Amino acid sequence: MDESSNQQEQQSSTFIMEENNTQLAWLFNLDANLTRAMGGVFPERNGDITGIHDVLDLACGSGGWSLEIAHLYPQIQVVGVDINKQLIENVRMLAQERGIPNAHYQLTNILDPLPFPDASFDLVNARTLYSSFEPANWPPLLRECYRILRPGGTLRLTEMERHLTSDLANERMWDLLTRALYISGRSFSPDGHHIGIVPHLGRLLHETGFIDIRNRASTPEISPQTPHFGTWREQDAYVWQLVEPFLVRTGVATLEEVQTLRAEALKGFNSESFCATAFYFTCWGMKPQ
Ligand SMILES: C[S@@+](CC[C@H](N)C(=O)[O-])C[C@H]1O[C@@H](n2cnc3c(N)ncnc32)[C@H](O)[C@@H]1O
Repeated sequence: MDESSNQQEQQSSTFIMEENNTQLAWLFNLDANLTRAMGGVFPERNGDITGIHDVLDLACGSGGWSLEIAHLYPQIQVVGVDINKQLIENVRMLAQERGIPNAHYQLTNILDPLPFPDASFDLVNARTLYSSFEPANWPPLLRECYRILRPGGTLRLTEMERHLTSDLANERMWDLLTRALYISGRSFSPDGHHIGIVPHLGRLLHETGFIDIRNRASTPEISPQTPHFGTWREQDAYVWQLVEPFLVRTGVATLEEVQTLRAEALKGFNSESFCATAFYFTCWGMKPQ
């Protein structure tokens, strides 16, 4: 392994979850839930990809979004980057197995200057980065996105707020997570009660120089009566498992307290009256011509 990729792997600790197979399973589940809830890979464009030739997906995770774009639009070149070597190797293998030659992947720490020339993409996409970065990391990242976009190109950011649920234990798990993000400096919330990033996306785009800024919210309902309840329950079960070491590390609860609450939160999902609303928010802006 060369020195730079070794450094990139060491820096993977910016992500609050450990790199393991449960994380991989969660990322596939998250991608599917999110793309479906948002109404597809490009819902705001209604399938109109005029002027899009090169797409970059930042922190591509499982690679689900980028693979789908590349599969649907074989004339577009798609690049996905992530700091996790296992994810990059896995998605390269998937692209090869599925015969998607226009999807390319590379190991990259997106907190460093992005390894692409000026004006090399028409669309830069980034979904659910909130837990990896401190507020101060966002302006330099957005300036890099601006630099690598062509005039008229789009930066598209999708982030989330905590779910609203009917269940006390699930609410308490969200309280712990938002508090731990706050304590570790990864929160935009003034008091740690929320994730807090959603209202900042438009401001960050404005301040970087993007224009024509728009947004779109997706608020999937999660209850036993809804068709994809099982996959959402699975998603939260993965999340509560994966964030356990982070919650303990930040001191918001002991391991025993988190384990007890996590077991109650999973039971809460099985109650017939369980209901929740998830909040995803996409905000996009254009680099002036
Ligand atoms: C919540 S996942 C989102 C994955 C994907 N964007 C999606 O929506 O399905 C966050 C991703 O950010 C990646 N990540 C965290 N810090 C990073 C960094 N500094 N540079 C690049 N990727 C990073 C993690 O490895 C993980 O795959």
